[in-house]
Amino acid sequence: MTREAHVRAPSNIALAKYWGKADVAKNLPAVPSLSMTLDGLSTYTRVRFDPGLNEDRFVLDGATATGRPLARVSELLDRVRRQGGFELRAEVVSDNDFPTAAGLASSASGFAALALAALTAAGESADPSAVSALARQSSASAARSVFGGYVALPGGADSAEPVAPPEHFPLSMLVAVTERGEKAVGSTAGMQHTAATSPYYAAWLAAAPAVYAEIRAAIAARDLQALGEASEHSALAMHASMWAARPAIDYFVPATLAVLKRVRTLRTAGTLAYCTMDAGPHVKVICRPEDAGTVISALESIDGVRRVIRAVVGGGAEVISADAWAARRSTPRAESD
Ligand code: DP6
Repeated sequence: MTREAHVRAPSNIALAKYWGKADVAKNLPAVPSLSMTLDGLSTYTRVRFDPGLNEDRFVLDGATATGRPLARVSELLDRVRRQGGFELRAEVVSDNDFPTAAGLASSASGFAALALAALTAAGESADPSAVSALARQSSASAARSVFGGYVALPGGADSAEPVAPPEHFPLSMLVAVTERGEKAVGSTAGMQHTAATSPYYAAWLAAAPAVYAEIRAAIAARDLQALGEASEHSALAMHASMWAARPAIDYFVPATLAVLKRVRTLRTAGTLAYCTMDAGPHVKVICRPEDAGTVISALESIDGVRRVIRAVVGGGAEVISADAWAARRSTPRAESD
């Protein structure tokens, strides 16, 4: 058995949002989602199954993890060990090439990387559907990071599927990193609380498939205006379902609203730019690459926007060489908090 593997896996941002589970135990999504895979925001992971270890070890961005983060890693490794019929414990070393302290979700790139590295190191089939299904059980959004370009995760599906390669529709995604909110509610807990208490959750479930279909059609047609309008609607409808929960889940900070309004003003002035948001206060703005400079200047001038991270649509998760992984690790990050 190959005992060691090195991989890179990208983040992704949903245009049609996943919020809610059809099956909590199996972690199957209740609604179809569709995302853009990002270049330039990746996790680099090495998994090494080691007969000398008595328990799993997880080192994230140089710090040894314990508690829930370590348990989630072990749960994925247990699935691989069960499948392979072996007991070896593993050391997992992961680094994000984006600042973790910026509060950007890293579970999508993190679990996609772990799934690919663990299956490869175990000598199990690491075909993209198998990797995606394994990643999905840990975090459904991670299922989409296995593939590049535009990626769908159908409602109730086991694994994600590619929709279009990056070159089909090369768009930019600009992440306006705001100050942090008061209290972070994780997405798993947030969606469970929405499902249990929000009268708008049923409306969200009913509306999401048609919005997803619109987004999928807009990508096929390379229609940024249709894509942007439907994507912004998907994100705000998801947040509306959370605002109606009791107590409300409110990820917004003042700069969040300021960005949403500024982007609307940009559109009035003729620049096609659209917002999306996840389980946090940051706003991600979609636009054409040639408009990215204009949009970045506008975002940087907003009070409460700490920085803007620039990404474009990119490729999926991949096995890399030990040398490439080591070189990546020793490269200091461009930005830090
Ligand atoms: C708002 O994939 O983090 O980012 O499956 O419970 O781990 P779990 O949830 P997760 O949820 C992501 C929610 C979102 C929207 C999206 O990425 O589609």
